Amino acid sequence: MRYLIAANWKMNKTVSESIDYVEKFREMVKDVEGIDIMIAPSFTALASVSPLLEKTSINLGAQNMFYIERGAYTGEISPIMLNELNVKYVIIGHSERRHIFGEKDDLINKKILAAVEYGLRPILCVGETLEERELGKTMNVVERQIKLGVAGLEREIGLIDIAYEPVWAIGTGVNATVEQAQEVHLFIRNLINDISKGNDSDTRILYGGSVNEKNAGELIKAKNVEGFLVGTASLDPHKFYKIILETLEV
Ligand code: 13P
Repeated sequence: MRYLIAANWKMNKTVSESIDYVEKFREMVKDVEGIDIMIAPSFTALASVSPLLEKTSINLGAQNMFYIERGAYTGEISPIMLNELNVKYVIIGHSERRHIFGEKDDLINKKILAAVEYGLRPILCVGETLEERELGKTMNVVERQIKLGVAGLEREIGLIDIAYEPVWAIGTGVNATVEQAQEVHLFIRNLINDISKGNDSDTRILYGGSVNEKNAGELIKAKNVEGFLVGTASLDPHKFYKIILETLEV
């Protein structure tokens, strides 16, 4: 299995800042092999960044998507719009979409199914809040989010990746420990193995939440951690490149 190291820039970087980053970053990673790299800029930058990634090993990702092809859905972006820009991955159900924009599991499920239908590879994000962890509900929350998120996919679960992003670790500087990550990642692996009747070997389980160039080397050694979804540290091409190098050493 090839690990996936993915950058989620969130609502950062204008078009010119995105171009500037990509021009530097693609030089840094030009000899990197054996790993999948993805960057997800803002929607406004996708069209400018896309041609810069041609003939590189960097894949383009989107941070969200609506599940219908076209129509009266003001402010939304459709799968065919992403297809036209050579977008390969789409982040679905990020905790900021769930908690700030009120996305529920059934909407997230529709987006997952649409992404697969249109040939995009969704990264389904799951994870508990601090309160849920303290109440001992971590596994219940993760199980619900995955079961409802992938409903209808079952044996085709290998067409998606999953990111475990504990909400309390996102943007806080407090990452999950190796033990905490391992425990949840093992739970997710067993769950998707069960749901898919053993067809889960192409699904990578990424960890996200305060990953940086200092902790990546340790976290990537955790069992069933098969890549990262990086926010803050991915905004600096040097830091993101260092995270990739740490992963290559494993
Ligand atoms: P940080 O790396 O800033 O904690 O963000 C993680 C994240 O939400 C990636 O999707």
